[in-house]
Amino acid sequence: MDTAFANDPARVIEADRAHVWHHLIQHKPFETIDPRIIVEGKGLRVWDIKGREHIDAVSGAVWTVNVGYGRESIANAVRDQLIKMCFYAGAAGTIPGAQFAQRLIEKMPGLARVYYANSGSEANEKAFKMVRQISHKHHGGRKSKILYRDRDYHGTTIACLSAGGQQERNAQYGPFTPGFVEIPHCLEYQSPDRGEGYALRAVQTIEDVILREGPDTIGALCLEPITAGGGIIVPPAGYWEGVQALCRKYDILLLIDEVVCGLGRTGTWFGYQQFGVQPDIVTMAKGVASGYAAISCCVTTEAVFDMFKDATDKLGHFRDISTFGGCTAGPTAALENMRIIEDEDLCGNSARMGAYLNGLLTELMARHPCIGEVRGMGLFQGAELVADRDTREPLAEKLVQAVVADCLAQGVIIGASNRSMPGYNNTLLFAPALIATRDDLDQIVGAVDVALERVCG
Ligand SMILES: Cc1ncc(COP(=O)(O)O)c(C=O)c1O
Repeated sequence: MDTAFANDPARVIEADRAHVWHHLIQHKPFETIDPRIIVEGKGLRVWDIKGREHIDAVSGAVWTVNVGYGRESIANAVRDQLIKMCFYAGAAGTIPGAQFAQRLIEKMPGLARVYYANSGSEANEKAFKMVRQISHKHHGGRKSKILYRDRDYHGTTIACLSAGGQQERNAQYGPFTPGFVEIPHCLEYQSPDRGEGYALRAVQTIEDVILREGPDTIGALCLEPITAGGGIIVPPAGYWEGVQALCRKYDILLLIDEVVCGLGRTGTWFGYQQFGVQPDIVTMAKGVASGYAAISCCVTTEAVFDMFKDATDKLGHFRDISTFGGCTAGPTAALENMRIIEDEDLCGNSARMGAYLNGLLTELMARHPCIGEVRGMGLFQGAELVADRDTREPLAEKLVQAVVADCLAQGVIIGASNRSMPGYNNTLLFAPALIATRDDLDQIVGAVDVALERVCG
């Protein structure tokens, strides 16, 4: 890199303003304000180009940097591997690819095969293609529908948006891919039929959709273990058991999207392991290499894999490729990332510190009536903000965003569901790196306390 350029903030900002099209945000304000440029990270902290320090309570804004910033051991492992062997297309294997697959499968009893790709969306696309091809090969093309849940998100491509339960994310990007069917969300707090027996009723709504569509037309049910951007929705006790039973009853593959919950985020290696379910296909991305390299995986059982083994059909194998799924930086970073999670007991820390964070946020409820509910698992917590606790009317999105902005001004980066579900972008999101300490969490929640006081009174 040109160090003269890197050391000149004005040049960087102007180059960014002139040529970078940023993800997710409206550019009009950059006519008068500077784009934010992040230049350094260490542990839970990041520094921007103007020298401001922030504590990052959302692991790179999108819940990714699970092991924290500045891990030299990951950088060194990737460097050494790139010099030795940087890339070879995935029709062949590589040493880190083989080793990471083996280590990953050790953490996922009942699963057997790892298909490499680069992003969460891409891993989900692979899964959808597998389901469709299984339908063609084994069910005469009939069992091709994929069920997805309201408020879940599975990625940004057209097929993933077709399986997306966040209407504001989908707006203006249709028409969508046919064959994706929505089931209701399972957020009891905002369900009209909440109360005793809710989990069973939520499962029944899924069965109703299956029966309406016809079980022999449905290939897979695709769910997040805990809905992430849709508002940190932890399904009620009994829900997941009901889901598993429905999948077995109607011969539907259970596809679990662990893009956010995987790799320790909820306090176990994978979110589904909190609920004792056995998926057929699992996708994962963000925390797999904590953002140190681009890697995602679509992991299947041997039974799913076996459905593609057939030397008599020239088109019968999984005819899919991801060019950069052959980059060795991904599995190399993922191996070191996994070693760190294991050696530093970051799943355990996520569980312990998650309980502490949940307690801190719950304590805030006594002072701030605008907090309607606190929910989450491990270092993945949410606080749903309401205008009125009795009616549970969601707090207006602009006020929720004002809380986020106030925290940012205090040097604390938190998140909130935004521009996703009409009328329900009202949940503050917390997903700090899994190395977070009590002091870090005290600082984060302290800023939220101040922000809520200023915004909600
Ligand atoms: C649950 C879930 N699945 C999939 C994705 C898509 O991942 P990516 O942005 O890597 O394509 C996301 C992204 O936030 C996600 O939250």
